[in-house]
Amino acid sequence: MNRFHSLINKKLHIACPIIQAPLAGSSSPELVSAVSNAGALGSLGAALMSPEAITAAIGKIRSSTDCPFNVNLLIPSKTPRKSGIIKMQRRLNRFREELHIEQHLVQPVIEKGKFEHQIKAVLEAKVPIFSFAFGMLSDKWIEAFKRAGTTLIGVATTLEEALALEKAGIDMLVAQGCEASGHRAGFLNREEDALIGTMALVPLLSDRLTIPVIAEGGIMDGRAVGAALIMGAEGVQLGTAFLTTDESPISHAHKHALLCGVQSKTVLTRAFSGRLGRALENRFIIQMQHDKGPIPSFPIQGRLTADIRKKAEETGNGDFCSLWAGQGVEFCRKISCKELINALMEELEEAMGGTLAFYEYFRWKKSA
Ligand SMILES: Cc1cc2nc3c(=O)[nH]c(=O)nc-3n(C[C@H](O)[C@H](O)[C@H](O)COP(=O)(O)O)c2cc1C
Repeated sequence: MNRFHSLINKKLHIACPIIQAPLAGSSSPELVSAVSNAGALGSLGAALMSPEAITAAIGKIRSSTDCPFNVNLLIPSKTPRKSGIIKMQRRLNRFREELHIEQHLVQPVIEKGKFEHQIKAVLEAKVPIFSFAFGMLSDKWIEAFKRAGTTLIGVATTLEEALALEKAGIDMLVAQGCEASGHRAGFLNREEDALIGTMALVPLLSDRLTIPVIAEGGIMDGRAVGAALIMGAEGVQLGTAFLTTDESPISHAHKHALLCGVQSKTVLTRAFSGRLGRALENRFIIQMQHDKGPIPSFPIQGRLTADIRKKAEETGNGDFCSLWAGQGVEFCRKISCKELINALMEELEEAMGGTLAFYEYFRWKKSA
């Protein structure tokens, strides 16, 4: 029995105050249902999927769990800058030569209107929970999801973004600290100006907002879950910790890099996609930084580097993969989702043992 029952448990109908972070390209229906079946909330990062694939994946999740789950999309950036593409292709051709893939100078195709089709597929599936990042969901979609009975979760990296999401009518929000793996989720501030740590962001947002706050960024064990709850979060969202679970579909090279502990230095880089994100430092990042020169904007740079990353993953070459990782990478465990969630809850109990009275007082004070 979970003693740390919070608003997240109540509103999302889950037993543990834990959410597996949406991981585009790295989450599968198997991962999502394993997490949900273990009493936490599984999330499908659907941003890279076609509308048909999203519908099929939701069907697969439903066939393997009766528990709630979340589907996530990324709000598209308005007008990606197209300058510097050919120059970047020339820079990338050196890596292509080394990986024995075809060199080229072509412009990538960015599909227009993809997001509208993706979000329609999610809406039609009447999913229990929908989350989004990189922007604000328009009123049209907020109203449509509310009519469908879907709970909405947005992601904020600053107080300004959090207040805007609350004002728009979002049900709860994720406070993304700068320790987090993958892309920075913010949308109102320049990414470099919105690098607040989880420890500072969570108390700030939970004091200033009326909607529940979910802490994320660098949370890897039950101690950190407890700290987030004490700071006022109603739940936690973990990405890196789930990347190394048995059900995680990431490449062998990525899993090995996260688990082997040889390279634990994470850096913020635009080299892979054009958008700032946290990954394990590798040769690709170092070389791109060394070359200097502008990087085309998101998602163009992501399309340009796609063939390099794919070949590197296929051949197990960690030097050229995007090894997304949070600052807590050294705490990665090679276990199943169920074992991870049970361990987090046991560690939470242990860590909070002495402070339980304070925690209960804090909850009472907050709700009074
Ligand atoms: C491989 C990968 C893919 C991600 N894809 C998404 C995504 O599609 N949508 C999203 O909101 N966040 C995405 N994120 C960010 C995570 O949801 C979350 O912010 C991060 O994993 C939390 O940090 P942690 O790893 O320190 O727990 C992704 C992160 C990773 C590592």
